[in-house]
Amino acid sequence: MKVGCVILAAGMSKRMKSAKPKVIHALLGKPMLSYSIEAVQSVTDIPPVVVVGYAADEVKKSTIQDVTFTIQAEQLGTAHAVMTAEKTLKGKVDIVVITSADMPLVTEKTFEQLKNLQITNTGPLSLVSIQGDISRGFGRIIRDNDGKVLRIVEEKVATQDELLGKEYNAGIYCVASDWLWEALHKIKKSSVGEYYLTDLLEIAVASGKNVEVLTLNDPDEAIGVNNRIHFAEVEKILRERINEEFMLAGVTMVDPERIYIEAGVTIGQDTIIYPDTYIRGNTRIGKNCEIGPGTIIDDSAIGDYCTILKSVLEEALLEDHVEMGPFCRLRSGAHLGSHVHMGNFGEVKKSHLGNGVKMGHFSYIGDAEIGEDVNIGAGTITCNYDGQKKNKTVIGAGTFIGSDTMLVAPLTIGKNAVTGAGAVVTKDVGDGEKVVGVPAHVIKKQNGEVDNNE
Ligand code: UD1
Ligand code: CA
Repeated sequence: MKVGCVILAAGMSKRMKSAKPKVIHALLGKPMLSYSIEAVQSVTDIPPVVVVGYAADEVKKSTIQDVTFTIQAEQLGTAHAVMTAEKTLKGKVDIVVITSADMPLVTEKTFEQLKNLQITNTGPLSLVSIQGDISRGFGRIIRDNDGKVLRIVEEKVATQDELLGKEYNAGIYCVASDWLWEALHKIKKSSVGEYYLTDLLEIAVASGKNVEVLTLNDPDEAIGVNNRIHFAEVEKILRERINEEFMLAGVTMVDPERIYIEAGVTIGQDTIIYPDTYIRGNTRIGKNCEIGPGTIIDDSAIGDYCTILKSVLEEALLEDHVEMGPFCRLRSGAHLGSHVHMGNFGEVKKSHLGNGVKMGHFSYIGDAEIGEDVNIGAGTITCNYDGQKKNKTVIGAGTFIGSDTMLVAPLTIGKNAVTGAGAVVTKDVGDGEKVVGVPAHVIKKQNGEVDNNE
């Protein structure tokens, strides 16, 4: 049984009140549409067909998965949208799964169950329903007195009596391919001028064919994003799914409702995440770390036993046992060796801090290579920008940088050197030398000789 898939994504989504098409709004770092594409991956035998229309180019551009796009130039309804896939799928698959790009919570498991239901169905159509007291503008499934399904009525055109029904159409279908293309052509315009895909049900019933219904245990799966309130609901559920997975895998979360982690992040066992923390993109965090509260980490790699309190990290690399914060900022290319200590208000950009470097208070290190065990005094600044280009600072192992030192790059300071408090260092400093003043001059030479003029 060969399976194809159609994902509807052509609608304009007026209710989102957005200049951007709804289906590319990012949910936890990924376009909404990518959730449906990934969820149908395991049931479809050929790349899913994504029907685009409104802002089609934008939607195409933001889709990285292997799909076939069809264009619905004018949005004349869900049935009309499916028709655009006819050429691509007719004769190539036996059954077609249909879903919408605005339903990112539908799971792989539901698509599997629906497909299996249709495989055993003697009729051409299976669909998904939800039950309960739900008011989301869903179409109502209407059954006769014997419980046999008859049709779906859209809320907009339903009678008062029909609106009392508590069984709703989730908008997910699995249909025998041959029958589908024929039936679509029989659908007539509704009173609101759209071709409703839901009319398939009535067409099947009218010709005495069997229709199967799969009822979801968790009605939340069918939440469709029609406006930004739904969007927030969906984001919360996706986040809960991710956080629960981490907790079951051994990550402690303090107040998980306030922890925002994107899919694709990895976190090691016994790490503790505190509230108001965002971990995003391609980020790996090791074991036994303490992250947050109030920390934002993007696209970074963190080793084991690191502590990151109230800090912001972007494209940074931390080896094991790094301790930082509160209020540190690591920008792209910051690389902190093991046992680095960064206290409050430090910024590091495109620099390597060797193992054991201590940088306790108020410093900026940019474009620098800092050797092991260097002590960076409070208020030290690498003056890396001369107004035209960025220049490099190199500091050798074991050097002591006094408080408030200005390191005017390009600059090389040797090993075990010392700069005095408030020094403005404009010239290179040799191993073991001590410099002080503005501009800094040598008061202790490499050979240990002390400058007598001091
Ligand atoms: C649809 C169902 C409704 C069901 C609900 C579940 C119909 C007529 N109604 O209503 O029974 O309860 O889903 O969420 O199918 N789209 C196109 N082209 C169009 C129109 C829509 O591609 O011409 C796309 C939209 O972008 C969206 C999807 O189809 O992704 C569903 O359309 P939408 O307008 O949201 O339908 P609902 O009112 O939610
Ligand atoms: Ca919808």
